[in-house]
Amino acid sequence: MGITFNEEKKVFLLKTKNTSYQFRVAEFGFLEHLYYGRRVEEAVDYIPVRLRHGFEANPYEMKQDRTLCLDVLEQEYPGFGVSDFKTSACSIIHADGSNCIDFRYVSHRIYNGKYTIEGMPSLRNKGDDWMTLEVVLQDVATKVEVTLFYGVLESCDVITRHAVIRNLEDTEITLHAAHSTCLSFPTDEMDQIDFYGSWGHERNAQRTPVRHGKTVVDSIRGISSHYYNPTIVLCDHETTETAGDCYGVALVYSGNFQITVEVNDFKQTRVVAGIHPDTFYWKLNPGETFATPEAVMSFSAAGLTGLSHHYHDVVRHFLIPGQFENQRCPVLLNNWEATMIDFDEEQLMQIASAGKELGVEMFVMDDGWFGRRTNEFRGLGDWQCNLEKLPSGIAGFSKRIHGLGLKFGIWIEPEMISEDSRLYEEHPDWCIAIPGRKPTRQRYQLILDYSRDEVVEYIFDQIYNEFKDAEIDYIKWDMNRSMTDRFSQALPAERQGELCHRYVLGFYKLMEKLTTTFPQIRFEGCCGGGGRFDMGVLYYAPQIWCSDDTDAIERICIQHGTSFFYPPSVMGAHVSVCPNQQTGRSVSIDTRAALAYYGTFGYELDPNELNDEEKEAVKRQIQYYQEHALTSAFGKYYRLTGVGHEFVAFMSVADDQKSAVFSFVQRRTSANKGIIYIKLRGLNEAAVYTIPELGLELSGASLMYAGLPMPVIKADNTAKTFTLIQK
Ligand code: DGJ
Repeated sequence: MGITFNEEKKVFLLKTKNTSYQFRVAEFGFLEHLYYGRRVEEAVDYIPVRLRHGFEANPYEMKQDRTLCLDVLEQEYPGFGVSDFKTSACSIIHADGSNCIDFRYVSHRIYNGKYTIEGMPSLRNKGDDWMTLEVVLQDVATKVEVTLFYGVLESCDVITRHAVIRNLEDTEITLHAAHSTCLSFPTDEMDQIDFYGSWGHERNAQRTPVRHGKTVVDSIRGISSHYYNPTIVLCDHETTETAGDCYGVALVYSGNFQITVEVNDFKQTRVVAGIHPDTFYWKLNPGETFATPEAVMSFSAAGLTGLSHHYHDVVRHFLIPGQFENQRCPVLLNNWEATMIDFDEEQLMQIASAGKELGVEMFVMDDGWFGRRTNEFRGLGDWQCNLEKLPSGIAGFSKRIHGLGLKFGIWIEPEMISEDSRLYEEHPDWCIAIPGRKPTRQRYQLILDYSRDEVVEYIFDQIYNEFKDAEIDYIKWDMNRSMTDRFSQALPAERQGELCHRYVLGFYKLMEKLTTTFPQIRFEGCCGGGGRFDMGVLYYAPQIWCSDDTDAIERICIQHGTSFFYPPSVMGAHVSVCPNQQTGRSVSIDTRAALAYYGTFGYELDPNELNDEEKEAVKRQIQYYQEHALTSAFGKYYRLTGVGHEFVAFMSVADDQKSAVFSFVQRRTSANKGIIYIKLRGLNEAAVYTIPELGLELSGASLMYAGLPMPVIKADNTAKTFTLIQK
């Protein structure tokens, strides 16, 4: 049973295949966290020890007994303003201006299946895999309620959380914080791993010991952002890729978020994650509710790789749209790095035809096909084909591309508006900007106010009308700026704090409408590269463009960091032109492919400009991906080394262990060095694998425990890819 309630001890026991999560109804109805970790069968209600602590406040009910203080009692959903002075999960201003919230247990229910969150993405309820626990708490002095939702997915060792706050008062209240989850540990002997970056440098894994005080990873850019990913790992100091305890928290959310890790002097570590409170407040009228986004938690005792595999499994099987499960993306050719915005129909046809000759399966027309888009300063918002560039229109052009035997993909950036556009001339008030203040521009564009339904509807209609008669197989959904000048002309002053979250809800609404209207179209998320690489987007789009930095050597780090929470199959990765447009670095075309194999695979270049040798390489690479994608991108992924070494190695093993793809990248060559041995992972010990590239036949046990000697490579930044096929 995934969820039980021990009536006698008042303990909730949530169990997955290998993990347990426990909390109880403690004195006076406080909902007290007990344990998360390796599976234990019994209730561990002996864990909290009540002690008298100096200078700590006590609940009124304790009278003269000073042994219970909320600063030490770890609540599942701590409120604000009473005696828990740590980061709160929820903060509310009542009608009288007071801001205490002190939640106590009221009731609970347990059922099969999983809750849904209206208007927001969350892990999918499929068959009987899930159980749900709902616990209702109410403020001790008012009729403000919160329902805590726990989803238990036994098979993937995953527990999800989300909260719904309900105002049952007869006056309005204002939410100032409404987080998704709060997780507590009775120790400060932990490390945290988070993922920082910037444009072109997304998701660098950074590991530091947790520290007294608060550490915050967050975004206030309106998007989850290139700068921090809405995910975090907490682990023992000793935890490695292959062994040790570790926990993950990931938000299924694409907007402003905050993850706070706080350590107090009692050596307790608390993690609170959810919508960023600095850019948020929300009025709740009597009877209204507010739903937080979902948080996905997991625990592994098998090290960081084990934890990643839990997340990879839920993303692949319970998050992305079902019709794309285990379906690789057609090998695509995108014209962006070949032409940028400056192209015409015949030029694109030549690029597409040349791609077809090399074996490409889909042509993607990137930015530049619509409205007045002759440069990046104009045209956004007008989703009608620019007939001067494409006389056949989108319908006609898509048919021409299909006529070549290629699938057809197209780029859109539907959340944006250029001041030089017909849309802006007609609706200048539809952008996010503060009247009387010149708006900050980024890439010379503004953001449409998706908190307004009519804006979302209008953009949907435009895109629908333009695409309904076209033959479209794939849409790249881009988003190229941070949100500033936060103001909606449709919201009253006292509701401006709702804009950022309402914007995200509008974004999800359009995503939902377009993906369900065109279910056969594969969407790819994009945000100036990987600025919105999160589980919210993956609910609608089975893949996200990882980064605008297509340099294979830079991609090592980016894809390494991304792989902690996201499987290779969702990582947009392409072979691009050299010297690389972002870094100026040149590496061999096979090195470029070695990184793209562990992703969606495709090309960002003009094949007409390749030499004969490169063309042969492209043909070979495409065949390789066609044969091995279900292993390299959809298999179990292993980070075999860190990324700071002279060499880097990674591999994927097919779920049935019958094949594997392994890549070794020599970063820096050097004279007179010893042989490098790499120990492979995830293979079947007893099986014998042939490695055609090396002419070897070896057992899984030898490859994993004795290791594989790497060839001597007399070149910097050179990758070799090896295939393992079980005999
Ligand atoms: C940013 C994307 O990441 C690029 O791949 C490309 O689509 C450009 N935008 C187009 O403007």
